[in-house]
Amino acid sequence: MSETPPTEFVERRATPREEEGDFPIVVEGLRNAFGPHVIHDNLDLRVRRGEIIGVVGGSGSGKSVLMRSIIGLQAPVSGSIMVLGNEVADGIDEREGALIRPRWGVMFQGGALFSTLTVAENVEVPLRQFHPDLDDELRSQIARFKVQLSGLPEEAAYKYPSELSGGMRKRAGLARALALDPELLFLDEPTAGLDPIGAAGFDSLTRELKETLGLTVFLITHDLDTLYEICDRVAVLAEKRVIAIGTIPELLATDHPWIQEYFNGPRGRAAKTTQERLAGMDASIDTAPGQGT
Ligand SMILES: Nc1ncnc2c1ncn2[C@@H]1O[C@H](COP(=O)(O)OP(=O)(O)OP(=O)(O)O)[C@@H](O)[C@H]1O
Ligand SMILES: [Mg+2]
Repeated sequence: MSETPPTEFVERRATPREEEGDFPIVVEGLRNAFGPHVIHDNLDLRVRRGEIIGVVGGSGSGKSVLMRSIIGLQAPVSGSIMVLGNEVADGIDEREGALIRPRWGVMFQGGALFSTLTVAENVEVPLRQFHPDLDDELRSQIARFKVQLSGLPEEAAYKYPSELSGGMRKRAGLARALALDPELLFLDEPTAGLDPIGAAGFDSLTRELKETLGLTVFLITHDLDTLYEICDRVAVLAEKRVIAIGTIPELLATDHPWIQEYFNGPRGRAAKTTQERLAGMDASIDTAPGQGT
């Protein structure tokens, strides 16, 4: 019998939903190399739905390459990368790309905005690509809405990247990453180069967007304050793989020298103290006389 199986069955085989459910990103046995230069070897990582996962590691440890592999821009030597139930390690063909690429948004290290387009036009790029039939006015309204959602003033939509401050450019990059209402948000060093107030503002925006839009966030950062403030778990990249993953207290309980140096070095201690001080302030507000129930 050459009966065609029902479409749903075909779809289900193409996208095993079990993987998609609790873990929208599952990386197993990943190996990446550029010629003889091995970047990742036997790297495993499972990202939980709805979490902000911080990805840390020394400069050159392969954080950006890992992100590029997960979004299908870097073909690995071997291993499996399931994203939203789709195997992307063997490449993403056009049909698969049309279905899954709109489900993630990416803010690249350095922004990668088109300098000859205004902020709104930058945000319109993915809308044009994935929804070519969208009416011009509607597309422009969506773009302006995303610009505001990213905390930029309305008029920023009509400016060119060169007319914006570094912090505003980051937010413009975020607006473009959010253009298609993604489920997954990839942020590569979003607070690098921002002053502490700008960085804290970007952090709270990330947390707020995660909570209101139900996003899962893959966040590469060197910023210890960001890790303490908004990350649910942290994955540590070293020795070509993820050597540890967990909450910061869980990581601190390990005795790996890099982890101890990173979180217990002077900057790590300062970030921890700030967080404890802020938590203490919250507690004293909760328990202040007359503030209770
Ligand atoms: N296209 C490429 N061709 C060759 N080597 C590359 C390429 N992209 C990255 N690499 C190398 O892979 C390694 C990891 O790079 P990657 O950009 O992932 O580091 P990173 O952890 O993101 O560092 P940083 O914190 O400085 O951003 C580096 O040694 C880099 O030189
Ligand atoms: Mg990088």
